[in-house]
Amino acid sequence: MPKVHITTDDKTIEVADNYALIDMCEEHDTSILFGCRDGACGACMVRVLEGAENLSPMQDHEKDFLETMAAEPNERLACQCKVTGDVKLEVSE
Ligand code: FES
Repeated sequence: MPKVHITTDDKTIEVADNYALIDMCEEHDTSILFGCRDGACGACMVRVLEGAENLSPMQDHEKDFLETMAAEPNERLACQCKVTGDVKLEVSE
């Protein structure tokens, strides 16, 4: 099962393959915050430290929003990501 390590919380959570990050965060106490849950507010932005290839590919909607926010290349919107393998994240400032 994929493991999600959140460095901000020093916490590792095991999830089922292809599990939505937002569902994981609702079931566990994490520092990742959510607002719109639809890729439109940026509240859930995380920095992917390792395992970017183990998150679901970025769709145009997310890509456009991150470009608008001038996000760094390793930043993703947690509400738009599913987990397919081990990944290490931190909450973006
Ligand atoms: S919760 Fe708004 S962009 Fe993810």
